[in-house]
Amino acid sequence: MKKGSSIRNILKIIVLTIFVAFVGMQFIPATRNESRSMLETDFVKTFDVPFEVQKVLKTSCYDCHSNNTNYPWYNKIQPATWFLEGHITDGKKELNFSEFGSYSRRRQRNKLRSIVSQVKSDEMPLWSYTLIHWDADLSEEQKKLLEDWIRGIEKSL
Ligand code: HEC
Repeated sequence: MKKGSSIRNILKIIVLTIFVAFVGMQFIPATRNESRSMLETDFVKTFDVPFEVQKVLKTSCYDCHSNNTNYPWYNKIQPATWFLEGHITDGKKELNFSEFGSYSRRRQRNKLRSIVSQVKSDEMPLWSYTLIHWDADLSEEQKKLLEDWIRGIEKSL
């Protein structure tokens, strides 16, 4: 056998193995963070949230910080679902907009402050997420809108 063809064979095996593993992954059952009903404790039911602010939160934050994630087709493909699942678990532990109303006043105030600082410093939404979800990336106007409104709410608490 010539050297060139044996390298080609090894490459073929590698590509085939990756392909089989990728297809196989799709059959492993995945848990999805989905809930049809909105809880009474949801952020948008706890406060009188203007439509524009709701839109920002739902597009940019709710996928990881609520009980309901929107799964576009690319998030239904493994390993994307697993990757997102890790973020959802960690994200909800820190801040769950679906349960915001059940937090104590003190915790609500802390979280509101934390939201402003995370958004201002571009820590949130996670960059690895906006890499694919372009619409989740916040413009300067959206950041300002969110910040101003949240500061107002924080004062009223
Ligand atoms: C891709 C998933 C994802 C998205 C989208 C996302 N977050 Fe997060 N968020 C996380 C994860 C994971 C953590 C916890 C670990 C960390 O801080 O990196 C977190 C932590 C936070 C914290 C810190 C909580 C605390 O008390 O310290 C805040 C506040 C926050 N996110 C707000 C937001 C806001 C506001 C948005 C939308 C503008 C957003 N996040 C979008 C995944 C996400």
